[in-house]
Amino acid sequence: MAERLVLGIESSCDETAAAVYSSTRGILSNELFSSMEFQEKYGGVVPEIASRSHIEKINHIVTHSLEKAEVVLDNIKVIAVTNKPGLPGSLLIGVCFAKGIAAAKNIPIIGVNHLEGHAFSAFLENNQIPFPHLCLTASGGHTALYFIKDFGNYEVIGQTTDDAAGEAFDKVAKLLQLPYPGGPIIERLAQEQQFQDFFKYPRGNPATLNFSFSGLKTAVVYDLVRRSLFDMKTKILSPDVDHEIKSKIASSLLVCVRDIFVRKINTALKEYSSVKAISFVGGVACNKYLKQALRTVADHNQVQFFSPPSQFCTDNAAMIALVGNYKAEQGLFSDLSLDILS
Ligand code: KG4
Ligand code: ZN
Repeated sequence: MAERLVLGIESSCDETAAAVYSSTRGILSNELFSSMEFQEKYGGVVPEIASRSHIEKINHIVTHSLEKAEVVLDNIKVIAVTNKPGLPGSLLIGVCFAKGIAAAKNIPIIGVNHLEGHAFSAFLENNQIPFPHLCLTASGGHTALYFIKDFGNYEVIGQTTDDAAGEAFDKVAKLLQLPYPGGPIIERLAQEQQFQDFFKYPRGNPATLNFSFSGLKTAVVYDLVRRSLFDMKTKILSPDVDHEIKSKIASSLLVCVRDIFVRKINTALKEYSSVKAISFVGGVACNKYLKQALRTVADHNQVQFFSPPSQFCTDNAAMIALVGNYKAEQGLFSDLSLDILS
Protein backbone atom coordinates (compact mmCIF):
# COMPACT_ATOMS: atom_id res chain seq x y z
CA MET A 1 0.00 0.00 0.00
CA ALA A 2 1.23 3.51 -0.81
CA GLU A 3 2.59 5.51 2.06
CA ARG A 4 0.21 8.12 3.47
CA LEU A 5 1.86 11.10 5.19
CA VAL A 6 -0.34 12.90 7.72
CA LEU A 7 0.44 16.32 9.18
CA GLY A 8 -1.04 16.62 12.68
CA ILE A 9 -1.71 19.98 14.33
CA GLU A 10 -2.65 20.43 17.99
CA SER A 11 -3.43 23.71 19.77
CA SER A 12 -6.26 22.89 22.20
CA CYS A 13 -4.57 24.22 25.33
CA ASP A 14 -1.15 25.77 25.94
CA GLU A 15 0.94 23.56 23.62
CA THR A 16 1.44 24.50 19.99
CA ALA A 17 2.30 21.18 18.37
CA ALA A 18 2.80 19.66 14.93
CA ALA A 19 3.85 16.17 13.85
CA VAL A 20 4.23 14.09 10.72
CA TYR A 21 2.98 10.49 10.78
CA SER A 22 3.63 7.92 8.08
CA SER A 23 1.15 5.08 7.55
CA THR A 24 4.07 2.74 6.88
CA ARG A 25 6.94 4.13 9.00
CA GLY A 26 5.08 5.56 12.02
CA ILE A 27 5.95 8.87 13.61
CA LEU A 28 8.55 10.95 11.70
CA SER A 29 8.52 14.16 13.74
CA ASN A 30 6.84 15.51 16.86
CA GLU A 31 7.44 19.22 17.51
CA LEU A 32 6.08 21.29 20.32
CA PHE A 33 6.20 24.68 21.97
CA SER A 34 4.65 25.16 25.40
CA SER A 35 3.63 28.62 26.58
CA MET A 36 3.50 27.27 30.15
CA GLU A 37 6.59 29.18 31.28
CA PHE A 38 4.73 32.46 30.55
CA GLN A 39 1.82 31.25 32.68
CA GLU A 40 3.55 29.58 35.63
CA LYS A 41 3.21 32.69 37.76
CA TYR A 42 -0.59 32.52 37.37
CA GLY A 43 -0.70 28.90 38.61
CA GLY A 44 -2.48 27.65 35.51
CA VAL A 45 -3.29 28.27 31.86
CA VAL A 46 -4.45 31.80 30.95
CA PRO A 47 -6.51 31.42 27.72
CA GLU A 48 -5.53 34.81 26.32
CA ILE A 49 -1.81 34.16 26.77
CA ALA A 50 -2.17 30.66 25.28
CA SER A 51 -3.93 31.81 22.10
CA ARG A 52 -1.51 34.67 21.50
CA SER A 53 1.37 32.27 21.87
CA HIS A 54 -0.22 29.85 19.33
CA ILE A 55 -0.42 32.68 16.77
CA GLU A 56 3.26 33.48 17.27
CA LYS A 57 4.51 29.90 17.14
CA ILE A 58 2.30 27.85 14.85
CA ASN A 59 3.99 28.65 11.54
CA HIS A 60 7.42 27.89 12.93
CA ILE A 61 6.33 24.65 14.64
CA VAL A 62 4.57 23.29 11.53
CA THR A 63 7.52 24.22 9.28
CA HIS A 64 9.92 22.63 11.73
CA SER A 65 7.88 19.40 11.92
CA LEU A 66 8.02 19.07 8.11
CA GLU A 67 11.78 19.72 8.11
CA LYS A 68 12.43 17.20 10.87
CA ALA A 69 10.41 14.60 8.96
CA GLU A 70 12.37 15.52 5.80
CA VAL A 71 9.21 16.13 3.81
CA VAL A 72 7.60 19.14 2.14
CA LEU A 73 3.97 20.18 2.22
CA ASP A 74 3.43 18.73 -1.27
CA ASN A 75 4.13 15.25 0.16
CA ILE A 76 1.38 15.58 2.78
CA LYS A 77 -1.77 13.60 1.93
CA VAL A 78 -3.95 14.58 4.92
CA ILE A 79 -4.01 17.37 7.50
CA ALA A 80 -5.40 16.29 10.88
CA VAL A 81 -6.21 19.02 13.36
CA THR A 82 -7.66 19.04 16.87
CA ASN A 83 -11.05 20.77 16.69
CA LYS A 84 -12.43 19.82 20.15
CA PRO A 85 -12.52 19.89 23.12
CA GLY A 86 -10.33 22.73 24.39
CA LEU A 87 -10.01 26.47 24.81
CA PRO A 88 -11.99 28.05 21.94
CA GLY A 89 -9.43 30.78 21.27
CA SER A 90 -6.64 28.20 21.15
CA LEU A 91 -8.49 25.64 19.01
CA LEU A 92 -9.36 28.37 16.50
CA ILE A 93 -5.69 29.09 15.75
CA GLY A 94 -4.89 25.47 14.88
CA VAL A 95 -8.09 24.92 12.89
CA CYS A 96 -7.76 28.17 10.90
CA PHE A 97 -4.09 27.47 10.17
CA ALA A 98 -4.89 23.90 9.05
CA LYS A 99 -7.76 25.10 6.85
CA GLY A 100 -5.47 27.71 5.29
CA ILE A 101 -2.92 25.09 4.24
CA ALA A 102 -5.63 22.65 3.17
CA ALA A 103 -7.23 25.27 0.92
CA ALA A 104 -3.95 26.57 -0.51
CA LYS A 105 -2.52 23.12 -1.28
CA ASN A 106 -5.78 21.30 -1.89
CA ILE A 107 -5.09 18.73 0.84
CA PRO A 108 -7.97 16.90 2.57
CA ILE A 109 -8.55 17.90 6.19
CA ILE A 110 -9.77 15.84 9.16
CA GLY A 111 -10.99 17.26 12.49
CA VAL A 112 -9.81 15.15 15.43
CA ASN A 113 -11.19 14.94 18.95
CA HIS A 114 -8.29 15.60 21.34
CA LEU A 115 -9.57 12.90 23.74
CA GLU A 116 -9.63 10.32 20.94
CA GLY A 117 -6.01 11.33 20.33
CA HIS A 118 -5.07 10.53 23.93
CA ALA A 119 -7.11 7.30 23.90
CA PHE A 120 -5.07 5.93 20.97
CA SER A 121 -1.71 7.53 21.87
CA ALA A 122 -0.25 4.25 23.16
CA PHE A 123 -0.25 3.06 19.51
CA LEU A 124 2.47 5.62 18.76
CA GLU A 125 4.93 3.39 20.54
CA ASN A 126 3.42 -0.02 19.82
CA ASN A 127 0.98 -0.62 16.99
CA GLN A 128 0.22 -4.16 18.16
CA ILE A 129 -2.03 -3.35 21.13
CA PRO A 130 -4.81 -5.96 21.03
CA PHE A 131 -8.54 -5.12 20.93
CA PRO A 132 -10.61 -4.90 22.98
CA HIS A 133 -8.69 -3.09 25.67
CA LEU A 134 -9.25 -0.60 28.47
CA CYS A 135 -7.66 2.84 28.30
CA LEU A 136 -7.27 5.08 31.31
CA THR A 137 -6.67 8.68 30.19
CA ALA A 138 -5.65 11.00 33.00
CA SER A 139 -4.43 14.54 32.49
CA GLY A 140 -4.91 18.06 33.81
CA GLY A 141 -8.08 18.58 31.80
CA HIS A 142 -9.65 15.13 31.55
CA THR A 143 -9.90 11.77 33.25
CA ALA A 144 -11.81 8.95 31.59
CA LEU A 145 -11.91 5.22 31.19
CA TYR A 146 -12.57 3.81 27.71
CA PHE A 147 -13.51 0.37 26.43
CA ILE A 148 -11.74 0.34 23.07
CA LYS A 149 -13.04 -2.10 20.46
CA ASP A 150 -11.15 -0.94 17.39
CA PHE A 151 -9.60 2.16 15.82
CA GLY A 152 -12.16 4.92 16.30
CA ASN A 153 -14.62 2.50 17.90
CA TYR A 154 -14.77 3.06 21.64
CA GLU A 155 -17.11 3.67 24.56
CA VAL A 156 -16.62 5.97 27.53
CA ILE A 157 -17.31 3.65 30.47
CA GLY A 158 -16.25 6.05 33.23
CA GLN A 159 -15.34 9.69 33.54
CA THR A 160 -14.75 12.35 36.12
CA THR A 161 -17.84 14.04 37.46
CA ASP A 162 -15.82 17.08 38.56
CA ASP A 163 -12.04 17.69 38.53
CA ALA A 164 -9.50 15.70 36.50
CA ALA A 165 -6.84 13.61 38.25
CA GLY A 166 -4.05 16.00 37.22
CA GLU A 167 -6.13 18.87 38.56
CA ALA A 168 -6.08 17.23 42.01
CA PHE A 169 -2.26 17.25 41.89
CA ASP A 170 -2.18 20.81 40.55
CA LYS A 171 -4.66 22.19 43.09
CA VAL A 172 -3.05 20.51 46.09
CA ALA A 173 0.38 21.73 44.89
CA LYS A 174 -0.98 25.27 44.66
CA LEU A 175 -2.44 24.98 48.17
CA LEU A 176 0.99 23.87 49.44
CA GLN A 177 2.68 26.73 47.56
CA LEU A 178 4.47 24.31 45.27
CA PRO A 179 5.10 25.12 41.58
CA TYR A 180 2.72 24.41 38.68
CA PRO A 181 2.16 21.79 37.29
CA GLY A 182 1.84 19.86 40.53
CA GLY A 183 2.15 16.27 39.29
CA PRO A 184 5.93 16.00 38.88
CA ILE A 185 6.77 17.70 42.20
CA ILE A 186 4.15 15.66 44.07
CA GLU A 187 5.74 12.50 42.67
CA ARG A 188 9.20 13.64 43.79
CA LEU A 189 8.06 14.54 47.31
CA ALA A 190 6.09 11.28 47.61
CA GLN A 191 9.21 9.34 46.75
CA GLU A 192 11.07 11.07 49.60
CA GLN A 193 8.45 9.52 51.91
CA GLN A 194 8.70 6.13 50.19
CA PHE A 195 5.08 6.37 49.07
CA GLN A 196 3.66 5.88 52.56
CA ASP A 197 0.05 6.73 53.35
CA PHE A 198 0.05 9.09 56.36
CA PHE A 199 -3.31 10.80 56.14
CA LYS A 200 -5.64 8.19 54.60
CA TYR A 201 -7.61 10.51 52.32
CA PRO A 202 -10.99 9.17 51.10
CA ARG A 203 -10.93 6.80 48.11
CA GLY A 204 -14.53 7.39 47.00
CA ASN A 205 -16.94 4.74 45.80
CA PRO A 206 -15.05 1.82 44.18
CA ALA A 207 -18.22 0.34 42.65
CA THR A 208 -18.79 3.12 40.10
CA LEU A 209 -16.47 3.58 37.13
CA ASN A 210 -16.87 7.36 37.37
CA PHE A 211 -14.23 9.44 39.14
CA SER A 212 -14.52 12.39 41.50
CA PHE A 213 -11.36 14.28 42.40
CA SER A 214 -12.64 17.59 43.75
CA GLY A 215 -13.57 15.91 47.03
CA LEU A 216 -9.98 14.77 47.39
CA LYS A 217 -8.63 18.30 47.32
CA THR A 218 -11.29 19.32 49.85
CA ALA A 219 -10.27 16.38 52.07
CA VAL A 220 -6.67 17.62 52.03
CA VAL A 221 -7.83 21.14 52.95
CA TYR A 222 -10.06 19.94 55.82
CA ASP A 223 -7.31 17.71 57.16
CA LEU A 224 -5.01 20.76 57.33
CA VAL A 225 -7.76 22.86 58.95
CA ARG A 226 -8.34 20.16 61.57
CA ARG A 227 -4.67 20.28 62.50
CA SER A 228 -4.71 24.13 62.56
CA LEU A 229 -2.39 24.33 59.56
CA PHE A 230 -4.77 26.19 57.24
CA ASP A 231 -7.14 29.06 57.98
CA MET A 232 -10.36 28.68 55.99
CA LYS A 233 -11.31 32.35 56.45
CA THR A 234 -8.05 33.96 55.36
CA LYS A 235 -7.00 31.03 53.10
CA ILE A 236 -3.55 31.31 54.63
CA LEU A 237 -1.31 28.27 54.94
CA SER A 238 0.51 28.08 58.27
CA PRO A 239 4.30 28.57 58.14
CA ASP A 240 4.46 25.33 60.16
CA VAL A 241 3.67 23.45 56.94
CA ASP A 242 7.30 22.63 56.26
CA HIS A 243 8.95 20.43 53.65
CA GLU A 244 8.28 17.29 55.68
CA ILE A 245 4.54 17.92 56.05
CA LYS A 246 4.30 18.84 52.37
CA SER A 247 6.01 15.63 51.34
CA LYS A 248 3.79 13.57 53.65
CA ILE A 249 0.71 15.16 52.08
CA ALA A 250 2.14 14.52 48.60
CA SER A 251 2.84 10.90 49.45
CA SER A 252 -0.63 10.31 50.94
CA LEU A 253 -2.27 11.98 47.94
CA LEU A 254 -0.38 9.92 45.39
CA VAL A 255 -1.10 6.64 47.21
CA CYS A 256 -4.78 7.64 47.34
CA VAL A 257 -4.89 8.32 43.58
CA ARG A 258 -3.13 5.00 42.98
CA ASP A 259 -5.80 3.17 45.00
CA ILE A 260 -8.60 4.96 43.13
CA PHE A 261 -7.09 4.00 39.75
CA VAL A 262 -6.38 0.41 40.77
CA ARG A 263 -9.91 -0.11 42.12
CA LYS A 264 -11.54 1.35 38.99
CA ILE A 265 -9.45 -0.83 36.72
CA ASN A 266 -10.27 -3.92 38.78
CA THR A 267 -13.99 -3.10 38.65
CA ALA A 268 -13.80 -2.49 34.89
CA LEU A 269 -11.92 -5.76 34.31
CA LYS A 270 -14.73 -7.63 36.06
CA GLU A 271 -17.41 -5.91 33.97
CA TYR A 272 -15.51 -6.18 30.67
CA SER A 273 -14.06 -9.67 30.81
CA SER A 274 -13.09 -9.75 27.11
CA VAL A 275 -10.39 -7.12 27.69
CA LYS A 276 -6.92 -8.19 26.50
CA ALA A 277 -4.87 -5.18 27.58
CA ILE A 278 -4.78 -1.96 29.59
CA SER A 279 -3.28 1.30 28.36
CA PHE A 280 -2.47 4.25 30.59
CA VAL A 281 -2.10 7.64 28.87
CA GLY A 282 -2.33 11.43 29.42
CA GLY A 283 -0.03 13.71 31.41
CA VAL A 284 -0.60 11.87 34.69
CA ALA A 285 0.69 8.67 33.02
CA CYS A 286 4.17 10.28 33.20
CA ASN A 287 4.03 9.18 36.85
CA LYS A 288 6.26 6.12 37.26
CA TYR A 289 4.69 5.07 40.55
CA LEU A 290 1.16 5.02 39.08
CA LYS A 291 2.43 3.32 35.93
CA GLN A 292 4.02 0.55 37.96
CA ALA A 293 0.88 0.06 40.06
CA LEU A 294 -1.27 -0.35 36.94
CA ARG A 295 1.28 -2.66 35.33
CA THR A 296 0.99 -4.87 38.42
CA VAL A 297 -2.82 -4.91 38.13
CA ALA A 298 -2.49 -5.95 34.49
CA ASP A 299 -0.03 -8.72 35.40
CA HIS A 300 -2.35 -10.05 38.11
CA ASN A 301 -5.20 -10.17 35.63
CA GLN A 302 -3.04 -11.65 32.88
CA VAL A 303 -3.64 -8.87 30.42
CA GLN A 304 -0.98 -6.81 28.63
CA PHE A 305 0.00 -3.31 29.74
CA PHE A 306 0.95 -0.33 27.58
CA SER A 307 1.90 3.21 28.48
CA PRO A 308 3.73 5.42 25.99
CA PRO A 309 6.82 7.53 26.82
CA SER A 310 6.23 10.98 28.35
CA GLN A 311 6.33 12.92 25.08
CA PHE A 312 3.27 10.97 23.87
CA CYS A 313 1.48 11.10 27.28
CA THR A 314 1.39 14.88 27.57
CA ASP A 315 -0.36 16.90 24.86
CA ASN A 316 1.20 16.34 21.43
CA ALA A 317 0.34 16.39 17.74
CA ALA A 318 1.65 12.87 17.02
CA MET A 319 -1.50 11.36 18.54
CA ILE A 320 -3.65 13.69 16.41
CA ALA A 321 -1.81 12.64 13.24
CA LEU A 322 -2.20 8.95 14.19
CA VAL A 323 -5.98 9.34 14.55
CA GLY A 324 -6.00 11.32 11.27
CA ASN A 325 -4.32 8.37 9.57
CA TYR A 326 -6.90 5.78 10.57
CA LYS A 327 -9.77 8.16 9.91
CA ALA A 328 -8.38 8.72 6.41
CA GLU A 329 -8.18 4.95 5.98
CA GLN A 330 -11.84 4.76 7.02
CA GLY A 331 -12.77 7.60 4.62
CA LEU A 332 -13.86 9.88 7.47
CA PHE A 333 -12.81 13.26 6.07
CA SER A 334 -13.97 16.72 7.12
CA ASP A 335 -14.12 19.69 4.75
CA LEU A 336 -13.35 23.40 4.85
CA SER A 337 -16.52 24.06 6.84
CA LEU A 338 -14.76 22.34 9.79
CA ASP A 339 -15.49 24.31 12.94
CA ILE A 340 -14.21 24.12 16.50
CA LEU A 341 -16.22 22.30 19.18
CA SER A 342 -18.59 20.85 16.55
O1 KG4 B 1 -1.76 15.86 29.14
P1 KG4 B 1 -1.27 17.11 29.81
O2 KG4 B 1 0.09 17.61 29.43
O3 KG4 B 1 -2.24 18.30 29.58
C1 KG4 B 1 -3.61 18.20 29.63
O4 KG4 B 1 -4.24 17.82 28.60
O5 KG4 B 1 -4.14 18.47 30.73
O6 KG4 B 1 -1.34 16.83 31.38
C2 KG4 B 1 -0.88 17.73 32.34
C3 KG4 B 1 -1.23 17.17 33.71
C4 KG4 B 1 -1.01 18.17 34.84
O7 KG4 B 1 -2.15 18.18 35.66
C5 KG4 B 1 0.20 17.60 35.58
O8 KG4 B 1 0.19 17.89 36.96
C6 KG4 B 1 0.06 16.12 35.31
O9 KG4 B 1 -0.42 16.03 33.99
N1 KG4 B 1 1.35 15.43 35.44
C7 KG4 B 1 1.59 14.51 36.38
C8 KG4 B 1 2.96 14.15 36.23
N2 KG4 B 1 3.47 14.85 35.19
C9 KG4 B 1 2.46 15.63 34.71
N3 KG4 B 1 0.79 14.00 37.33
C10 KG4 B 1 1.35 13.09 38.15
N4 KG4 B 1 2.64 12.70 38.11
C11 KG4 B 1 3.48 13.20 37.15
N5 KG4 B 1 4.75 12.81 37.11
ZN1 ZN C 1 -4.73 16.49 26.69
